[in-house]
This record gives sequence, structure tokens and C-alpha cells, in this order.
Amino acid sequence: MTRSIKPLVAGNWKMNGLRAELAIAAEVARGYGAELRHAVDLAICPPATLHFAMTAALIGSRIATGGQDCSAQSSGAFTGEISAGMLSDAGATYAIVGHSERRTLHGETNATVKAKAEAAQKALLVPIVCVGETQAEREAGKALAVVKKQIRGSVPEGSTAATLVVAYEPVWAIGTGLTPTAADVAEMHAAIRAELGKALGKAAASGVRLLYGGSVKPSNAAELMNVAHVDGALVGGASLKAEDFLAIAKACA
Ligand code: PGA
Repeated sequence: MTRSIKPLVAGNWKMNGLRAELAIAAEVARGYGAELRHAVDLAICPPATLHFAMTAALIGSRIATGGQDCSAQSSGAFTGEISAGMLSDAGATYAIVGHSERRTLHGETNATVKAKAEAAQKALLVPIVCVGETQAEREAGKALAVVKKQIRGSVPEGSTAATLVVAYEPVWAIGTGLTPTAADVAEMHAAIRAELGKALGKAAASGVRLLYGGSVKPSNAAELMNVAHVDGALVGGASLKAEDFLAIAKACA
């Protein structure tokens, strides 16, 4: 944790959720009482089809919503794409960009991710820029170098604490139940903060929220959140259960 930073816990629903699952968001809202609201910010990133309905269901709850991706383009002949402006119009505050599933399955490069992050910022959304090494890269001792390069290539110039969130998600920890050691997370988050300092200046970098993501659960959240420079969590699987998502939020508080 960084004392001066209010943590953010964001749920990434990925390609899960029909309208019936809006009840999960409503249950999270019921559990997000005054004390928790004071201590931690919450966001849910639903599939695009649910975005507007979810934002409506969360009115008054102070839970934000976010897209799981956005186009680098603002409008036009891009079949199937969703612009940052459209997400904003549907009530979004955030847009995840550069998730490892997008980088791997859709061939997104650092340059693509940066262009998407810039598009998000232009639409006044806060991009949650995801970075993280593969298992092979970690085993080869390249984790720090890979992630620093992703930071340099994916983060828009001029980003500030108010306009950027970064999520460190080791690819091998996503959906696997595996997590890095607290020492590894500490080393990586300190390196990310330092790299952001070089790119954005120390003052701006010191306030950027650095989330950890990858198999965050109620049972490991407190330990992960205790690590220096971990300012919240990006939660996949466990965000689909209101009880688990709230337990993680409490662990971050
Ligand atoms: P997980 O996913 O919590 O299910 O590991 C995290 C993510 O992909 O953001």
C-alpha cells in the first residue's frame, strides 16, 4: 500500500455475464457501505453489452464501471469495435487496455495499447494499462526488463495520477491460482513506479495507482495488498462472486 493513495479494486468480468448477473453488481453495491466507501474505490468492468444497464443499476452506489478494452479510433468504419467515447456515454469511468488476453489473443503491441490508452484519456476515461511477463520470461530472468519495456511503450506521455492506473498482472498468474511471492511483487511494483517516474516525472508517478492482478482471492488479498506500491487489485474470477469481491475490497481497505 501507498499511504497517500486511496486503493482501487476493479473487477474484470471478461466475457461473462448476462442481464441476470446484474444482480451480482447490485449485491456488491449493498455491501459497499460508508466505511468501505471511505477506504477503497470500487469499479466493475462488465462486458460491453451490460455496460449501460450496469451503470444504471449502480447509480448512487459510488461504484464506477469500466470497459474491458476500447478502440484507438474515435468513430468510423471499424466493425465490432467500441470507442472510448461510447464507453463514456454508457457511464464508464475506466477502460482496461492491454490486458494480456488482448495482447496474446489479439496481437496487441505496446504501441496499440498506448494508442488505446490515449484514446481513453481523450474521452476522459482513466485507462487501466495492464503489463506483465509470461512464465517463460520470468524463468529466463527477464520479468523486470519485459515489464519496464511495456511501461515505456504503453503509457501515454503526460499521464498523471488522475488520468492513469497501471495493473501488473503476471500472465502466468491469471486464472491459474498461482501468485508471485510478496517479494517478487514488491520488486516489480517498485520498478514500475521508478519507470513511471522516468517517463512522467516523480511527482506524477508517485500518485499513480499500481494494481496487482492475477489470482487475487479473499485468502491472499491482504498479503498482496500489504506489499509496498500495491495500491489495489484487478480481479478476474473472484469478481464474479459478490461475497468474494467484497472480501477482497475489505482486505484492501
Ligand atoms: P484472475 O484474472 O483474477 O481470474 O486471475 C485477473 C485478470 O485477468 O485481470
